[in-house]
Amino acid sequence: MSQYTATAAPTGRVVADLRSDTVTQPCDAMRTAMANAEVGDDVYGDDPSVNRLEASLAERLGKEAGLFVPTGTQSNLLAMLAHCGRGEEVILGDSYHVIRFEAAGASVLGGIALHALIVADDGAVEPDDVTAAIKDDDSHHPISRLLSLENTSDGRAVPLARMNAAIDAGRAGGLNLHLDGARFFNAITALGCSETDLAGPFDTVSVCLSKGLGAPVGSVLLGSKDL
Ligand SMILES: Cc1ncc(COP(=O)(O)O)c(C=O)c1O
Repeated sequence: MSQYTATAAPTGRVVADLRSDTVTQPCDAMRTAMANAEVGDDVYGDDPSVNRLEASLAERLGKEAGLFVPTGTQSNLLAMLAHCGRGEEVILGDSYHVIRFEAAGASVLGGIALHALIVADDGAVEPDDVTAAIKDDDSHHPISRLLSLENTSDGRAVPLARMNAAIDAGRAGGLNLHLDGARFFNAITALGCSETDLAGPFDTVSVCLSKGLGAPVGSVLLGSKDL
Protein backbone atom coordinates (compact mmCIF):
# COMPACT_ATOMS: atom_id res chain seq x y z
CA MET A 1 0.00 0.00 0.00
CA SER A 2 1.17 3.50 -0.75
CA GLN A 3 2.46 5.77 1.97
CA TYR A 4 -0.39 8.04 0.95
CA THR A 5 -3.99 6.85 0.99
CA ALA A 6 -7.09 8.65 -0.15
CA THR A 7 -9.23 9.77 2.79
CA ALA A 8 -12.96 9.38 2.52
CA ALA A 9 -15.31 12.16 3.64
CA PRO A 10 -17.78 11.24 6.42
CA THR A 11 -20.24 10.27 3.69
CA GLY A 12 -17.80 7.55 2.63
CA ARG A 13 -17.16 9.26 -0.71
CA VAL A 14 -13.72 10.52 -1.71
CA VAL A 15 -14.42 14.15 -2.65
CA ALA A 16 -10.99 15.11 -3.92
CA ASP A 17 -7.92 12.90 -4.01
CA LEU A 18 -4.99 15.25 -3.49
CA ARG A 19 -2.27 12.63 -2.96
CA SER A 20 -0.80 13.42 -6.36
CA ASP A 21 -1.68 14.77 -9.80
CA THR A 22 -0.79 11.29 -11.06
CA VAL A 23 -4.03 9.83 -9.66
CA THR A 24 -6.10 11.71 -12.23
CA GLN A 25 -8.21 9.49 -14.45
CA PRO A 26 -9.38 9.96 -18.01
CA CYS A 27 -12.70 11.75 -18.36
CA ASP A 28 -15.47 10.41 -20.61
CA ALA A 29 -14.34 12.55 -23.56
CA MET A 30 -10.79 11.22 -23.27
CA ARG A 31 -12.02 7.62 -23.05
CA THR A 32 -14.13 8.20 -26.17
CA ALA A 33 -11.16 9.75 -27.98
CA MET A 34 -9.00 6.75 -27.05
CA ALA A 35 -11.63 4.23 -28.14
CA ASN A 36 -12.04 5.98 -31.48
CA ALA A 37 -8.34 6.71 -32.11
CA GLU A 38 -6.81 5.66 -35.41
CA VAL A 39 -4.13 3.10 -34.60
CA GLY A 40 -1.35 1.26 -36.41
CA ASP A 41 2.00 -0.41 -35.83
CA ASP A 42 4.19 2.23 -34.21
CA VAL A 43 7.40 0.24 -34.96
CA TYR A 44 6.68 0.75 -38.66
CA GLY A 45 5.75 4.38 -38.01
CA ASP A 46 2.20 3.37 -38.96
CA ASP A 47 0.33 4.73 -35.94
CA PRO A 48 -1.16 8.03 -37.08
CA SER A 49 -2.16 9.05 -33.55
CA VAL A 50 1.34 8.52 -32.15
CA ASN A 51 2.88 10.22 -35.18
CA ARG A 52 0.60 13.23 -34.72
CA LEU A 53 1.30 13.43 -30.99
CA GLU A 54 5.07 13.29 -31.50
CA ALA A 55 5.02 15.84 -34.32
CA SER A 56 2.69 18.30 -32.62
CA LEU A 57 4.63 18.30 -29.35
CA ALA A 58 7.92 18.65 -31.20
CA GLU A 59 6.51 21.66 -33.03
CA ARG A 60 5.13 23.25 -29.85
CA LEU A 61 8.45 22.89 -28.02
CA GLY A 62 10.54 23.90 -31.04
CA LYS A 63 12.33 20.54 -31.32
CA GLU A 64 13.01 18.44 -34.38
CA ALA A 65 11.50 15.15 -33.22
CA GLY A 66 9.50 13.44 -30.49
CA LEU A 67 9.42 9.89 -29.15
CA PHE A 68 6.34 8.56 -27.34
CA VAL A 69 7.09 6.20 -24.43
CA PRO A 70 4.95 4.77 -21.61
CA THR A 71 6.45 6.66 -18.64
CA GLY A 72 8.44 9.69 -17.56
CA THR A 73 11.04 7.45 -15.94
CA GLN A 74 11.60 5.75 -19.30
CA SER A 75 11.76 9.06 -21.11
CA ASN A 76 14.38 10.48 -18.71
CA LEU A 77 16.33 7.21 -18.90
CA LEU A 78 16.36 7.22 -22.70
CA ALA A 79 17.59 10.80 -22.67
CA MET A 80 20.48 9.96 -20.34
CA LEU A 81 21.38 6.85 -22.35
CA ALA A 82 21.30 8.90 -25.56
CA HIS A 83 23.49 11.68 -24.16
CA CYS A 84 25.98 9.65 -22.11
CA GLY A 85 28.18 6.62 -22.57
CA ARG A 86 29.59 4.33 -19.88
CA GLY A 87 31.90 6.17 -17.50
CA GLU A 88 30.24 9.50 -18.18
CA GLU A 89 28.14 11.45 -15.70
CA VAL A 90 24.97 13.43 -15.29
CA ILE A 91 25.03 16.47 -12.98
CA LEU A 92 21.63 17.16 -11.41
CA GLY A 93 19.81 18.38 -8.29
CA ASP A 94 19.72 16.17 -5.20
CA SER A 95 15.94 16.37 -4.85
CA TYR A 96 15.19 15.76 -8.52
CA HIS A 97 13.09 12.80 -9.52
CA VAL A 98 15.86 11.34 -11.70
CA ILE A 99 18.10 10.69 -8.71
CA ARG A 100 15.51 10.11 -5.98
CA PHE A 101 12.87 7.98 -7.62
CA GLU A 102 14.22 6.36 -10.78
CA ALA A 103 16.10 3.44 -9.22
CA ALA A 104 19.45 4.70 -10.58
CA GLY A 105 18.40 3.29 -13.94
CA ALA A 106 21.04 5.28 -15.82
CA SER A 107 23.75 3.73 -13.63
CA VAL A 108 22.27 0.23 -13.73
CA LEU A 109 21.65 0.11 -17.47
CA GLY A 110 24.10 2.64 -18.84
CA GLY A 111 27.11 2.70 -16.50
CA ILE A 112 26.40 6.42 -16.03
CA ALA A 113 27.41 8.22 -12.81
CA LEU A 114 25.04 10.70 -11.12
CA HIS A 115 26.55 13.75 -9.39
CA ALA A 116 23.99 15.47 -7.15
CA LEU A 117 24.03 19.18 -6.28
CA ILE A 118 22.10 20.80 -3.44
CA VAL A 119 18.84 22.24 -4.72
CA ALA A 120 18.00 25.79 -3.58
CA ASP A 121 14.63 26.73 -2.05
CA ASP A 122 13.30 27.77 -5.45
CA GLY A 123 14.10 24.41 -7.05
CA ALA A 124 17.14 25.64 -8.99
CA VAL A 125 20.75 24.50 -8.79
CA GLU A 126 23.40 27.17 -8.34
CA PRO A 127 25.56 27.97 -11.38
CA ASP A 128 28.75 27.99 -9.30
CA ASP A 129 27.93 24.48 -8.08
CA VAL A 130 27.46 23.34 -11.68
CA THR A 131 30.83 24.79 -12.65
CA ALA A 132 32.54 23.22 -9.64
CA ALA A 133 31.01 19.80 -10.40
CA ILE A 134 32.34 19.64 -13.95
CA LYS A 135 35.38 17.36 -13.87
CA ASP A 136 38.78 18.01 -15.40
CA ASP A 137 39.94 15.78 -18.21
CA ASP A 138 41.60 13.27 -15.89
CA SER A 139 41.47 9.49 -16.01
CA HIS A 140 40.55 9.40 -12.31
CA HIS A 141 37.19 11.02 -13.05
CA PRO A 142 34.04 10.23 -14.94
CA ILE A 143 33.52 12.44 -17.96
CA SER A 144 30.98 15.19 -17.19
CA ARG A 145 28.50 15.03 -20.06
CA LEU A 146 24.99 16.17 -19.11
CA LEU A 147 23.25 18.69 -16.87
CA SER A 148 19.74 17.49 -16.04
CA LEU A 149 17.33 20.09 -14.61
CA GLU A 150 13.70 19.83 -13.50
CA ASN A 151 10.75 22.22 -13.91
CA THR A 152 8.37 22.17 -12.15
CA SER A 153 10.35 20.85 -9.21
CA ASP A 154 8.52 19.61 -6.11
CA GLY A 155 5.56 21.84 -6.92
CA ARG A 156 7.64 24.95 -7.68
CA ALA A 157 7.88 26.63 -11.06
CA VAL A 158 11.58 27.49 -11.23
CA PRO A 159 12.08 31.03 -12.63
CA LEU A 160 13.58 31.16 -16.12
CA ALA A 161 16.42 33.43 -15.01
CA ARG A 162 17.49 30.85 -12.45
CA MET A 163 17.23 28.02 -14.98
CA ASN A 164 19.24 30.02 -17.49
CA ALA A 165 22.03 30.78 -15.01
CA ALA A 166 22.59 27.05 -14.43
CA ILE A 167 22.20 26.35 -18.15
CA ASP A 168 24.85 28.94 -19.03
CA ALA A 169 27.27 27.40 -16.53
CA GLY A 170 26.61 23.95 -17.98
CA ARG A 171 27.08 25.09 -21.57
CA ALA A 172 30.27 26.97 -20.66
CA GLY A 173 31.60 23.69 -19.25
CA GLY A 174 30.69 21.81 -22.43
CA LEU A 175 27.68 19.92 -21.02
CA ASN A 176 24.61 18.80 -22.91
CA LEU A 177 21.30 19.79 -21.37
CA HIS A 178 18.19 17.79 -20.44
CA LEU A 179 14.97 19.02 -18.84
CA ASP A 180 12.73 16.70 -16.85
CA GLY A 181 9.54 18.57 -17.68
CA ALA A 182 7.14 16.03 -16.21
CA ARG A 183 4.89 19.01 -15.48
CA PHE A 184 6.18 21.20 -18.31
CA PHE A 185 2.76 22.73 -19.05
CA ASN A 186 2.17 23.59 -15.39
CA ALA A 187 5.59 25.27 -15.40
CA ILE A 188 4.98 27.47 -18.45
CA THR A 189 1.51 28.40 -17.20
CA ALA A 190 2.86 29.43 -13.78
CA LEU A 191 5.84 31.27 -15.32
CA GLY A 192 3.70 32.96 -17.97
CA CYS A 193 6.15 32.00 -20.71
CA SER A 194 5.92 30.10 -23.98
CA GLU A 195 6.84 26.48 -24.61
CA THR A 196 9.96 27.53 -26.49
CA ASP A 197 11.04 29.98 -23.76
CA LEU A 198 11.40 27.05 -21.38
CA ALA A 199 12.37 24.27 -23.80
CA GLY A 200 14.64 26.34 -26.06
CA PRO A 201 18.00 26.02 -24.26
CA PHE A 202 17.70 22.25 -23.75
CA ASP A 203 18.90 19.53 -26.10
CA THR A 204 16.21 17.20 -24.80
CA VAL A 205 12.97 17.69 -22.87
CA SER A 206 10.79 15.00 -21.33
CA VAL A 207 7.12 15.87 -20.87
CA CYS A 208 4.50 13.69 -19.18
CA LEU A 209 0.91 13.36 -20.36
CA SER A 210 -0.15 11.46 -17.24
CA LYS A 211 0.34 14.19 -14.65
CA GLY A 212 -2.35 16.79 -14.29
CA LEU A 213 -3.34 16.39 -17.93
CA GLY A 214 -5.43 13.31 -17.11
CA ALA A 215 -4.03 10.81 -19.62
CA PRO A 216 -3.65 7.36 -18.06
CA VAL A 217 -0.05 6.87 -19.27
CA GLY A 218 2.49 8.40 -21.58
CA SER A 219 5.46 10.68 -21.93
CA VAL A 220 7.21 12.20 -24.92
CA LEU A 221 10.93 12.82 -25.25
CA LEU A 222 11.69 15.78 -27.52
CA GLY A 223 15.01 16.60 -29.12
CA SER A 224 16.97 16.24 -32.31
CA LYS A 225 16.18 13.41 -34.71
CA ASP A 226 19.72 12.04 -34.58
CA LEU A 227 19.82 11.88 -30.80
C1 LIG B 1 9.43 15.34 -11.85
C2 LIG B 1 9.09 13.93 -12.28
N1 LIG B 1 9.81 13.37 -13.25
C3 LIG B 1 9.56 12.12 -13.70
C4 LIG B 1 8.54 11.37 -13.15
C5 LIG B 1 8.35 9.96 -13.64
O1 LIG B 1 7.16 9.74 -14.29
P1 LIG B 1 6.52 8.27 -14.36
O2 LIG B 1 5.85 8.02 -13.06
O3 LIG B 1 5.56 8.38 -15.53
O4 LIG B 1 7.62 7.31 -14.63
C6 LIG B 1 7.75 11.92 -12.12
C7 LIG B 1 6.64 11.13 -11.54
O5 LIG B 1 5.87 11.58 -10.73
C8 LIG B 1 8.03 13.23 -11.68
O6 LIG B 1 7.33 13.80 -10.69
